[in-house]
Amino acid sequence: KRIVVLVSGNGSNLQAVIDACQQGRVNATLSAVFSNKASAYGLERAQAAGIPAFSLDPKSYANREAFDAALAEEIDAYQPDLVVLAGYMRILSHDFVARYAGRMLNIHPSLLPKYPGLHTHQKAIDNNDAEHGTSVHFVTQELDGGPVILQAKVPVFEDDTAEDLNQRVQTQEHNIYPLVISWFVDGRLSLREGQAILDGQIL
Ligand code: GRF
Repeated sequence: KRIVVLVSGNGSNLQAVIDACQQGRVNATLSAVFSNKASAYGLERAQAAGIPAFSLDPKSYANREAFDAALAEEIDAYQPDLVVLAGYMRILSHDFVARYAGRMLNIHPSLLPKYPGLHTHQKAIDNNDAEHGTSVHFVTQELDGGPVILQAKVPVFEDDTAEDLNQRVQTQEHNIYPLVISWFVDGRLSLREGQAILDGQIL
């Protein structure tokens, strides 16, 4: 199976997927990595692993639809079975989401449906939550709203900063994202009629 990953930044989740592919925990080839930011460290991680890595500058396109259409054309040249969003910090156009329906995953740093959008760690602190975490979900038209596949919880301690929580959450992300990706590439996971199905069971 072939995977294309989209990043905007550090790419620690990309690294976790690279490592999982190299170690045979994910039975797939990382065909290419794309970024909307030329400075994304994730691009360097890809290059270091011998994966074709490209950035597209949104400023070179008239609007979101034009950028997403160009990106989709680049992605489709690799004929991916799965598109993995790994810290890809751009709103996706309707057509882009529709094109990859049922074969695009995202990881979001909260226990969805709590805290879609940005600044999730600070929100968990501000609300005195006892627990926080991360969610892997199928991407649908609703931002951070697609069916959840797997979550990992972490405790929130009294003196935690947002950065403390970020680190605790990311450690879990690096475990659960490769695991979910392995389920998908092994044909165990699908999106049917808006529901995530694993081994024939609704999640
Ligand atoms: C992750 O925490 C992920 O949940 C969120 O963006 C962050 C990306 O981190 N969507 P990295 O670029 O994978 O290090």
